[in-house]
Amino acid sequence: MRAVADSITITDNRSGDRVEVPIVNGGVDATAWRELLGDVWFHDPGLTTTASTTSEITELDGDRGILRYRGYPIEQLAEQSTLPEVAYLLIHGELPTQAQHDAWVHEITHHTFIHENFRKRIFDAFNYNAHPMGLLTSGVAGLSTFYPEAKNIADPEARLAQIIRLIAKMPTMAAAAYRFFKGLPFVFPDNADDYSTRFLKMMFDISNTYEPHEVLVKAVRILSILHADHEQNCSTTAVRVVGSAHADPYTSVAAACGALYGPRHGGANEAVLKMLAEIGSMDRVGDYVAAVKRGEGRLMGFGHRVYKNYDPRARIIKDAAHAVFEVTGKNPLLDIALKLEETALADDYFVSRRLYPNVDFYSGLIYQSIGFPTDMFTVLFAIGRTPGWLAHWNEMLAQDQRITRPRQLYAGPAGRDYVPLDQR
Ligand code: CMC
Repeated sequence: MRAVADSITITDNRSGDRVEVPIVNGGVDATAWRELLGDVWFHDPGLTTTASTTSEITELDGDRGILRYRGYPIEQLAEQSTLPEVAYLLIHGELPTQAQHDAWVHEITHHTFIHENFRKRIFDAFNYNAHPMGLLTSGVAGLSTFYPEAKNIADPEARLAQIIRLIAKMPTMAAAAYRFFKGLPFVFPDNADDYSTRFLKMMFDISNTYEPHEVLVKAVRILSILHADHEQNCSTTAVRVVGSAHADPYTSVAAACGALYGPRHGGANEAVLKMLAEIGSMDRVGDYVAAVKRGEGRLMGFGHRVYKNYDPRARIIKDAAHAVFEVTGKNPLLDIALKLEETALADDYFVSRRLYPNVDFYSGLIYQSIGFPTDMFTVLFAIGRTPGWLAHWNEMLAQDQRITRPRQLYAGPAGRDYVPLDQR
């Protein structure tokens, strides 16, 4: 048997049996190997070498620094689009026509309110200083009890109704969580505003006096688009895993919020601010970099599992940061950040390991200058990522994917007899 070029052949040395599996879309179908492998399993903790699905949503090429949603470059979307339009693109696969756009934005705008019971009774049940991300995660899960029809996941129309509700209500719940956390009165969503302006007003308005500067609205819009999807990251994988059990979308997105809450995933931009504050002045950058090279900690906001080039999102955020600082005044930590980047990118330690600034390196500086406390950074990430989570949830259901249920390699004790407590 002659193997075709685009295939992998594996031989089971126990039996001499061989199987040839074609390479399709850069992957090989693991199920084709099952017959040969018997009770031998792939061992892949962290799923670092496993493609858990096929997807048509986001293309990420870490070597070339490319990120595209449904084929559209992130740079063009960040400059020209809005989060609701990007959400339409991610979920439906195409940019909307004007009529589709208007209908979609109308739907989202008219589902922004959250039930009074939710605001008064669910949030009030938490401690006065509850972290906004904890409130948001619990709140999203709680929404499933307000919309029991969400369980009807087999109906595409019912699915779309929940998708619209979640995209519409996330900023409202996020702002409500912040106001609760600060002990401030809740601000109702204003349907006359666009998505990002409405959110900023719900966050910061006091007695109808707050009108956000257009540059700040643009920065929030850009950051939300940059965060909208990032293919099979930890939280998106959580949505797909929980969704594969046919849980409703609120419960599935709550699982994603839980994953995002972890400091390894959604919390790195907060760590960047702490690091910059710890460095404190530009003349200490060299010493800090030297300490990182000695293995005393990491440069936060640097490096990425997939990008081995400049993270395209970081470049866009860096430009947006300069525009924001012209309005808010320069964030005093910016000069330290710029010097840190310059020093690292001129140093062989970082160059040889292909460590470049990632999305988190400059985003925290922008958020801080706009007035967001660090506790809100992951919440902002969650608002932006919600359309991506839902696009993957919808795609996974349309693919009719089997329940996610991996195997394990058991390494514990062999069978043994129970010993009563008084004999141990
Ligand atoms: N500072 C200094 N050295 C680093 C850094 C860093 N930030 N990141 C990686 N390295 C070194 C690491 O020590 C290792 O060196 P050596 O080969 O000598 O042992 C080499 O580079 C490879 O690192 P790794 O740990 O194998 O890389 P990874 O792909 O497992 O980790 C990462 C990726 C993002 C967790 C890591 O780069 C990191 O910890 N960065 C700082 C935290 C951060 O900014 N996270 C935000 C990620 S972007 C947001 C998101 O998408 O969720």
